Amino acid sequence: MTKKNEQYQYAFIDSGTGGLPYLQYLHELEPDASMVYVADNAHFPYGKKTKEEVIAFASETVEKLIARFNPEIIIVACNTMSVMALDSLRKKFTLPFVGTVPGIKLAVKQSRNKRIGILATERTVCDPYTERLIEEFGSGCYFEKRADQELIAQIEDGLITDSYEEKLKAIQPALEQFKKANTDSIILACTHFLHIEDVFESAAGSDMQIIDTRSGVIHQALRIAPCKKNPDAPPNSCYATAALDTHIEEQYRMYSKLFQLRWGGAL
Ligand code: DGL
Repeated sequence: MTKKNEQYQYAFIDSGTGGLPYLQYLHELEPDASMVYVADNAHFPYGKKTKEEVIAFASETVEKLIARFNPEIIIVACNTMSVMALDSLRKKFTLPFVGTVPGIKLAVKQSRNKRIGILATERTVCDPYTERLIEEFGSGCYFEKRADQELIAQIEDGLITDSYEEKLKAIQPALEQFKKANTDSIILACTHFLHIEDVFESAAGSDMQIIDTRSGVIHQALRIAPCKKNPDAPPNSCYATAALDTHIEEQYRMYSKLFQLRWGGAL
């Protein structure tokens, strides 16, 4: 049974800390929005799981999340979970979901030379859903795909607090691949990458655009569930599903602080 003081209007879910920039975007648009963030870090990384596993883990987490926080809407701030499990989640649960899928349509619109990089998880780069987006919106374009689970793991592990040089070093292999392929746009198709979007932007230079889907996703969530002021809402909070060891808990406390969230501990 949800306690009255644990209800939030918006819930965000990811396999880790990747969805936090989406939560921040909503907070910037609607400072009074009541939000809870849940990381299924017990099963991180989703990008290396099978479709069946992702569906099972996502459903399990959503079930717990609804039982505890009773949100009005869930924002799936994870491309991997969205491309693989969104259909199943919508069939299983009655509340609305907004998904986060690779910004292919947006990139095609903005690219001048029609050569576009997709940076994502191992699952997302080859998922049929991504292929369908390419078929539907990308005709006449070349897509250079790269899966980078190592970079995702580094970000989950706190790369955000490292020096600019460290971050630059971490994105270098991806950047080199896209430059070599002569792309003029890179789609950040895994939410974790948004934590270092500024580094991508400055290192890629003004000839390369970095594309993310925050605006579209959050505006869609606000259309479905316009923000309601609730003076009794609990503080915006962050939870994780993993049995927390000290190092993981430290990272999550750090991320919570950075995104002005109360650290709620294990869900
Ligand atoms: N943040 C997730 C995404 O957008 C995936 C990271 C992972 O669990 O591999 O796809």
